[in-house]
Amino acid sequence: MKKQSKIYIAGHRGMVGSAIWRKLEAEGYTNLIGRTSKELDLRDQKAVLSFFEIEKPEVVIDAAARVGGILANKDYPYQFLMENLQIQNNLIDTAHKTEVEKFIFLGSSCIYPRLAPQPLKEEYLLTGSLEPTNEGYAIAKIAGVKACEAVRKQFGKDYVSLMPTNLYGSHDNFDLNTSHVLPAMIRKFHEAKVNNEPVKLWGSGSPMREFLHVDDLADAVVFALENKLPEHLYNIGTGKDLRIKELAELIQKTVGHKGEILWDSSKPDGTPRKLMNVDKMKNAGWKASTNLEEGIQKTYQWFLNNQDKFKEVKL
Ligand SMILES: NC(=O)c1ccc[n+]([C@@H]2O[C@H](COP(=O)([O-])OP(=O)(O)OC[C@H]3O[C@@H](n4cnc5c(N)ncnc54)[C@H](OP(=O)(O)O)[C@@H]3O)[C@@H](O)[C@H]2O)c1
Repeated sequence: MKKQSKIYIAGHRGMVGSAIWRKLEAEGYTNLIGRTSKELDLRDQKAVLSFFEIEKPEVVIDAAARVGGILANKDYPYQFLMENLQIQNNLIDTAHKTEVEKFIFLGSSCIYPRLAPQPLKEEYLLTGSLEPTNEGYAIAKIAGVKACEAVRKQFGKDYVSLMPTNLYGSHDNFDLNTSHVLPAMIRKFHEAKVNNEPVKLWGSGSPMREFLHVDDLADAVVFALENKLPEHLYNIGTGKDLRIKELAELIQKTVGHKGEILWDSSKPDGTPRKLMNVDKMKNAGWKASTNLEEGIQKTYQWFLNNQDKFKEVKL
């Protein structure tokens, strides 16, 4: 990969896209391009084709998607299925048709069956039923993985899919209606500390989850960019998980909240356990480097510095 190769980062203002942009800049890449959803709606096939014909990117990183937590996925299944299919189909198909040789597709660990053995191996894809609360999103992501696999098989291009575990970090979504568990907890504990109140959290606290700092994912993306990975699908995670209750205690300690934690078990827990097997990526030569405590401290600091700029995520 040349430092002056033209790299299009779809979704460059999002949590993942902006981390990839920062990392590529830091590594000396000088020809990065991005468009906001207002400038280029990736659901619009004609607009995407016209953008590729004008800009002629050499490499595409797809970090654009309709993303949200359990509640948003449950309430808006159509948007999560259809918009993600539209965005990724337009990007993958246009990239292929305009001779883009390298494409990195970002999916999520929810592509794996709800009750697959743990830790999740790439080979468990399509071996059982999905978690119903985010089935639409997962089906769209599986279609993206399969589209990249097909381009790779049929045309010999380097189209690769990276499946990150739960992410967190700078530019996360702290909107409580649509956020994921870790940023939601940071906000809830912070507000409870300020108001001197107990914290009310969703679910039972017993599910086990794995969390990866978004800067580590950006590092993995650059690794995949600079190396031709031999297979089409790789899990990206830390390979370590913890109970949601333990996560809550860690965030409580970082934020400095002193009150009680109340669990609202009327809210859904989601999959009981979700841990990635990350051996394939390790064998290829990459592993995560940020520990969870340090990552949460960095994220809480970002939260404190950016409280006036939080994005509101509307569906
Ligand atoms: N967050 C996680 O925990 C997590 C975990 C695993 C995998 N991932 C994957 O990582 C990728 C990025 O997630 P993220 O957390 O960075 O999400 P995010 O912060 O919500 O960013 C998503 C980006 O997609 C863009 N986008 C959405 N709809 C679009 C459209 N119709 N046209 C053009 N752009 C559009 C948005 O652009 P604008 O800002 O310009 O509107 C935004 O920059 C997704 O594929 C997701 O599946 C995320």
